[in-house]
Amino acid sequence: MEKNFDLLVIGGGPGGYVCAIRAAQLGLKTACVESRGTLGGTCLNVGCIPSKSLLNSSELYHKAKKNFSDIGIETTGVKLNLEKLMANKNKSVQVLTKGVEYLFKKNKVTYIKGKGVLLSKNNVVVYDEEGKKISYNSKNIVIATGSTYTSIPGINIDEKDIASSTGALSLKKVPSKLVIIGGGYIGLEMGSVWSRLGSEVTVIEFLDHITPGMDREISKEFQKILNKQGIKFKLETKVVSVEKSKNGTQVNCINNKTGSKETLDCDKVLVSVGRKPYTEGLNLSKVGVKKDNKGRIEVNKKLQTSVSNIYAIGDVIKGPMLAHKAEEEGIAVAEILAGQAGHVNYDVIPGVIYTSPEVASVGNTEEQLKEKKIKYKIGKFPFLANSRAKVNNEAEGFVKILAEENSDRVLGVHIIGPHSGDMIAEMALAMEFGASAEDIARTCHAHPTHTEAIKEAALAVDKRPIHF
Ligand code: NAI
Repeated sequence: MEKNFDLLVIGGGPGGYVCAIRAAQLGLKTACVESRGTLGGTCLNVGCIPSKSLLNSSELYHKAKKNFSDIGIETTGVKLNLEKLMANKNKSVQVLTKGVEYLFKKNKVTYIKGKGVLLSKNNVVVYDEEGKKISYNSKNIVIATGSTYTSIPGINIDEKDIASSTGALSLKKVPSKLVIIGGGYIGLEMGSVWSRLGSEVTVIEFLDHITPGMDREISKEFQKILNKQGIKFKLETKVVSVEKSKNGTQVNCINNKTGSKETLDCDKVLVSVGRKPYTEGLNLSKVGVKKDNKGRIEVNKKLQTSVSNIYAIGDVIKGPMLAHKAEEEGIAVAEILAGQAGHVNYDVIPGVIYTSPEVASVGNTEEQLKEKKIKYKIGKFPFLANSRAKVNNEAEGFVKILAEENSDRVLGVHIIGPHSGDMIAEMALAMEFGASAEDIARTCHAHPTHTEAIKEAALAVDKRPIHF
């Protein structure tokens, strides 16, 4: 097997594998080291992809049970087969991880199975499953080792009674009571899944609002909608301990404001209080790769670490822990190494929560614009006034466009509503091209589609919506 490469990527997640493919396309002799046994990283194996399978299946089940009869489709005996639902999820994951392996072969990327450890700035040793080690040399190295879950002091995740997102993707039984610690992306997506499948879900959030960082108006609406769906929230509440009891698990918490104590009984707990960069065992300090005080690898604008031929991308560096952000960085590094002008526009990274309705955003929130002292105009349009959303009985939510006061340039778009995860791409494109709200308002949008709500919100920036 070849032992010398132009580029060796450590980590085969969306950042690493995309970087490796692009580098190979550009003519670099490239290898990718992955220890999991399958490619695709957290996203494909135990993150974005399996959770989307469960979100889709649970939504269909819930609709068949609760909503079909409202529109004249009578069903009887709709039953959940959890084992089959999980098998369907596992099959999708398997097909997609194999797909990445195929893409490696097609692009002539060498796939090295095992755990990569840096020995020097040009040398990586890989330990395979049997502990055998093989040493590889590379002109350049990319660290793309991703992230892992965090917990709260004193709470041990055992993936049985107390689960991380990984455990919550593979429960054997629908819990009758599920307590979720942390009202962020993972908590709300997994909370939606298990609530639709029949669990009584309570989300405990430390702050006075869910989804920190999200435009506050959208976050409030989101909580209201989830609440209506049956998910309970305990805000401004701190979990102090989780104990096993005879009948299940007890979550002990304290209200931050009043100091009052409360114990919640449940049969499962999901801990979703954030993720941390995964750099364990890489030998970073020995080779001189520096980390910041949050444990993230420090990089410059070209994504170079403190060792100039070692780069880092994705969840191990600063920025949102999102697969598509990692992919963009992977492509940028590959292009920089091939002598091109690789670049990531961090101002235009969309974010989506795949609940029902979906929540999607790109660019600045209103709170960020206030903090930056930028004057702005707002255009909003509710899905209640969008004909397609209305006929589909999915008229909750709204589109909110924030445009710079004088130039009319779009600075941020926030959508809570049906298909917003797909619709946000149009707004990201508009922002990449420096569009004004007027540009969007004058673009013909097909009727009847949900996208007309975007056009109307853009018209509303200039106070001239047609349908509201
Ligand atoms: P998160 O950062 O989104 O949310 C964590 C939440 O836990 C926050 O609201 C925080 O205030 C709260 N929290 C922290 N400590 C707490 C405590 N002691 N008690 C109660 N609440 C506490 O983290 P999450 O949901 O674990 O997701 C991790 C990462 O994965 C995020 O960076 C997210 O972007 C990514 N992700 C993205 C998805 C997507 O793009 N759809 C889906 C799932 C995850």
